[in-house]
Amino acid sequence: MSCLDDVEALRKADVHGMLAAYLRWADNLLEAAKRAEDISFPAEVRTRAGPIRYGEPDAVVIVGMGGSVVGGELLKDLTWDVVPVPVLVWRDYHMPAFAGPDTLVIAVSYSGNTEETLMAFSEALGRKCMIAAITSGGILGQLCKRLGIPVVEVPAGLKPRMALPYLFAPLPVLLEKLGLAKGLKGQVEEAAALLRHMAEDLGPDVPTARNKAKELASELKGTIPIVYGFGFFRSVAYRLKTQFNENSKVPSFYNWLPALNHDEVMGWEAEDALTKPFSVIFIRDRDEALEIRHRIEATKELVAGKASKVLELHALGSERLEKMLSVLYVGEMASLYLALARGVDPYAMASIDDIKEKLAVLGMAEKARARAEALVP
Ligand code: F6R
Repeated sequence: MSCLDDVEALRKADVHGMLAAYLRWADNLLEAAKRAEDISFPAEVRTRAGPIRYGEPDAVVIVGMGGSVVGGELLKDLTWDVVPVPVLVWRDYHMPAFAGPDTLVIAVSYSGNTEETLMAFSEALGRKCMIAAITSGGILGQLCKRLGIPVVEVPAGLKPRMALPYLFAPLPVLLEKLGLAKGLKGQVEEAAALLRHMAEDLGPDVPTARNKAKELASELKGTIPIVYGFGFFRSVAYRLKTQFNENSKVPSFYNWLPALNHDEVMGWEAEDALTKPFSVIFIRDRDEALEIRHRIEATKELVAGKASKVLELHALGSERLEKMLSVLYVGEMASLYLALARGVDPYAMASIDDIKEKLAVLGMAEKARARAEALVP
């Protein structure tokens, strides 16, 4: 019996109830979509820099860090061929030069206290960008309330990565509200229905033989996972890499086709001592384009025998978001099981907290707060 089939031991090891929290993602997606649906954009927000006027944006910038902004990456892949304006994900203290009054900036920070996000937010405010936010509160939540900036409030008490449905689902709904795309809320609802169904087969009570997430975790144990995506699965591959890092506490990497065929693939020519620590997960879709199918097969041939394991994760559903989130969900759950199989707490995030604490001495979050407060009329 796999150690992942001792349900009691699993429950005891998962002290913070991460498994149960992830099994509620379908409900969380629907609740978040509803919260976003309920907010309204004001015609104008007054600031000391001048009025922010909400209208049709000519660019969308999703600002944030880590688990909070990854929803922006999913949004980009979901909408790149339907939204008529550029959608960018921005992870930095400073806003790009083009951001101005016609740019929609959505600041996403679960805690609302992340210094990079707050600095970029205050800069966007000074440039009179159309700002909205998604947060559970913190400094960002307070500033939005004081200024009258539209904010999607999400429940507190989770870790940002556990809150992905809350942080992601508002994004497509807000874009649809602004008339930048159609049918996105419907896709969120379809994907939630699929995740609800999938959750029945991914929980701790379902044994490894019938549980794709436990099976994946068992295969990955003792190796360094590399996730290869393509097309709209690029963001999914990226998110899974981050979950193997954050939940499972292992190094992990990602890349995507066709890009990796032009550089990374050379690395697999290295001697076995360098390639054997890795496992490769290829994301697959029954509707993948012929050229991508050929690339995956050719790449698999090169990697086979060099990596420790070559695995596949297959998309379910028919709509784009269903496909993306179905792959994501199995991988996310696998990252939790991998943590538990390794005897580590998937909830803990010591190194991230440690760096945040070390940086706090510079008082950047407070500086950003003061800069934004100076713009309150
Ligand atoms: C923690 C996590 C981190 C945070 C990041 C930004 O679960 O995923 O990547 O998301 O450090 O913090 P917040 O999300 O509070 O802005």
